[in-house]
Amino acid sequence: MKEQINVALLGLGTVGTGVYKILQMQKEDMIPKLGCTVQVKKILVRNIEKAAKKVEDPSVLTNDWNSIVNDPDIDIVVEVMGGLNPAGTYIREALQAGKNVVTANKDLIAAEGHELLQIAGELKKDLMFEAAVAGGIPLIRPLKQCLQGNHIETVMGIVNGTTNFILTKMTFEGMEFGEALALAQELGYAEADPTADIEGLDAARKVAIMSSLAFHTKVTFDDVYTEGITKITAKDIRYAKEMGCRIKLLGVAKDTPEGVEAAVYPMLVPEQHPLASVNDSFNAVFVHGDAVDDAMFYGRGAGELPTGSAIVGDIFDVVRNINWDCTGRIGCTCYKNLAIKDAKEVSNKYYIRLKCEDRFGVLAAVTSIFGCHKVSIEQMIQKRKTENTAELVVVTEAVKDKHMRASLEAISHLEVITEIASVIRVAE
Ligand code: NAP
Ligand code: HSE
Repeated sequence: MKEQINVALLGLGTVGTGVYKILQMQKEDMIPKLGCTVQVKKILVRNIEKAAKKVEDPSVLTNDWNSIVNDPDIDIVVEVMGGLNPAGTYIREALQAGKNVVTANKDLIAAEGHELLQIAGELKKDLMFEAAVAGGIPLIRPLKQCLQGNHIETVMGIVNGTTNFILTKMTFEGMEFGEALALAQELGYAEADPTADIEGLDAARKVAIMSSLAFHTKVTFDDVYTEGITKITAKDIRYAKEMGCRIKLLGVAKDTPEGVEAAVYPMLVPEQHPLASVNDSFNAVFVHGDAVDDAMFYGRGAGELPTGSAIVGDIFDVVRNINWDCTGRIGCTCYKNLAIKDAKEVSNKYYIRLKCEDRFGVLAAVTSIFGCHKVSIEQMIQKRKTENTAELVVVTEAVKDKHMRASLEAISHLEVITEIASVIRVAE
């Protein structure tokens, strides 16, 4: 049993600083918890001067990766620098050098996680990534361990705090998208370039990871059909409210007989659904398994200490595995090879807002096109009427994406339709 386990941090930004602080906060509890201490021996950064203000002892800072990977006293490498490269190379090299790895890097795990877990498994080393999905919320370990007695059918959730904050402001304060985004940027939720959040890419990476774990099969970022929230208007949010729904950006993954459905899109969620009341920058993930039934995980999906909390949990687990000589105990859990369902074959209910001329025959023309394309209408409401134009909201029954696309294409050619203003899926 080692008396001290040495850690190297790669990166000392938001998350790295959180990990560093929590390890300081946990110092007294380490011996009773783990039977040993955990020491940050080195920290890799680009700018040593900038990082020096954040640490007690600046001599731990380095910008030389070789001084870490070639140091036999470093047991665990914690990668919190982000991006695919050099993070991926460093993780491979760390594993090859006999080190265990903890990472928060969803971009890398969603793209190359299977290969990296394979390498870790062959070398009998741990590769843990609890922080990569939903920050501080324990989700990877529940999916990989606690829920193993289930066949998981659905994983669905709000896994991006920035977009949830924006949609919450649009819902409760009537803000338009641009205004709410500017506020999210001002408060530090959204980055200067918010593309990955608002276009749904960040959530798609998390869906790829969650569905791989839940369904025991390889699902990568490219397999996830993705739409963001940039086209959502305050008016749609208001109309959704009038129908007893909230609009949320959801990651949805289902194990179906025709293959795995994996997608990210905004959806109308009935107010009674537990995800409808998840507001501000909070995340929540809803899991349905054949044994556990429904389970929901809720909390902070980002931030210095919440994300650091998930990483320190992983570090402590690796420490125990090192001292019990059982690293690599839980490697890749993808033992199936399921097909990925084509997004065009996925069925959903839809909310469609149309702007049209206010004259006879409009409803008949629209319903006739829907009928020809096997789209059944659940509700049709005329929302607003000005001099010559009207606004129609149509809610359909569940219909395949390909049939919806074909009907919208035909509707867009109708002379009486001036605009297909919104098309948003509806969760059941
Ligand atoms: P960040 O604030 O931008 O920090 C990145 C750190 O890595 C900085 O210290 C940076 O150093 C260092 N770094 C970057 N590239 C480097 C290189 N090539 N060599 C040496 N150092 C390098 O990022 P973050 O928000 O902490 O995110 C880190 C990771 O955690 C990402 O994978 C992210 O997706 C994930 N994550 C973040 C959150 C969150 O709440 N922020 C939540 C969950 C997961 P310099 O400052 O010197 O450039
Ligand atoms: N940008 C992410 C979010 C946090 O807004 O939830 C990091 O995963």
